[in-house]
Amino acid sequence: MAFTIAIDGPAASGKGTISRLLAAEYGFAHLDTGLLYRAVGARMMEGVDPLEAAKALRAEALDGDALRTPEVAQAASKVAVIPEVRAALLDFQRAFARRSGGAVLDGRDIGTVICPEAEVKLFVTANAETRARRRHAELLERGIASDYAEVLADVQARDRRDMERSDAPLRPAPDAVRLDTTTMSIDEALAAARAVVDSRRA
Ligand code: CDP
Ligand code: CDP
Repeated sequence: MAFTIAIDGPAASGKGTISRLLAAEYGFAHLDTGLLYRAVGARMMEGVDPLEAAKALRAEALDGDALRTPEVAQAASKVAVIPEVRAALLDFQRAFARRSGGAVLDGRDIGTVICPEAEVKLFVTANAETRARRRHAELLERGIASDYAEVLADVQARDRRDMERSDAPLRPAPDAVRLDTTTMSIDEALAAARAVVDSRRA
């Protein structure tokens, strides 16, 4: 039986962590849809046309820390404003969402465009400074030195581009449950998300 958990929110709000932990807990498959845009953005940085890159994208290309850099994040948000690129990535995401056995997808437009019929929709937020602090710490943990002020500017530039684009802008679906994680630990955020999922599964 298909059961879809759609998790949207801005950069470093914690949606990926919550998604991964929920998927493990319920035995669902997980797709970080940001990786699709990051993979296309990375190809664009190599000089490939973004639409051609989106059409040719294969699951194998979604692996690896190479996609989780601030430069690739910016490129991802630039290719993400191109409607044809988004359209080329649609079928794969929709099929993933409705696979049998349950799925968790996280991104920007899962509850609004990819899977408006999702059984659970969460919109995860946190204030920009908290998100930048988290991303800065995360990069450091992975051995990537970054400047906090630059990380904050990067996050804010992407937020703006993601919210202001005309095709599939970042915004909560009308029926999404909002989760502000600014003062929450990962455990607290997970518990709040789990409570929403359990209430829909009952
Ligand atoms: O997927 P998204 O970009 O929204 O964020 P994430 O990758 O899940 O989280 C970004 C960083 O913040 C990770 O290093 C998480 O461990 C951390 N985090 C946190 O410290 N507290 C939370 N409540 C959620 C995430
Ligand atoms: O982890 P973080 O939130 O920093 O970024 P991400 O989820 O990997 O997404 C990178 C970029 O891809 C975002 O800034 C968006 O521009 C784009 N994206 C999108 O447009 N739609 C999605 N469903 C997922 C990502």
